Amino acid sequence: MIKEEISKLYFENEKLVNLVPDKLLKWATKVMEENWDNAKDDESRKKVEYKIYHTLAVIQAGWDIMTQIKSVELDKSTGTIVCLFHDIGRFPQAAKSNSYIDEVSGMDHAQVGAEMIKKENFLIDNIEEIIEAVYWHSRKEYLGENIYAKFGLFQEILNRGRLKYLIF
Ligand SMILES: [Fe+2]
Repeated sequence: MIKEEISKLYFENEKLVNLVPDKLLKWATKVMEENWDNAKDDESRKKVEYKIYHTLAVIQAGWDIMTQIKSVELDKSTGTIVCLFHDIGRFPQAAKSNSYIDEVSGMDHAQVGAEMIKKENFLIDNIEEIIEAVYWHSRKEYLGENIYAKFGLFQEILNRGRLKYLIF
């Protein structure tokens, strides 16, 4: 991968461009590019790259869920932003520490991600729900009412192949 491919991968996806406000998509790809640039070594850069592809896969999985499972009634734009942002904290984690394991890196990637988004002060609907969804997406369970937090956790569970814990 070369750096220029990162935003290309995201901006050539028409559905993504239509569902996510430009400012947010630009910010997400900028975070990816900066951490790709700042990766401390080749192994770290590979980990950043992996998450760039992983995020796209999660966005696709999110669309599948939102369109195929009738009980999931989410705003598609908000749901897509949750998928796009869910692992945003992984990029600085991979670039700095060469590890995805929160205990090894000393970083709670979900908390870091939520804080990164908060700092941007995005003026969009449902931003609080989105931040909460990112914060909770890697926890064991979420008992609140925020459907986007349930959706974020659902995505994570899907990734881990732990379908028996489905919560929708
Ligand atoms: Fe995650």
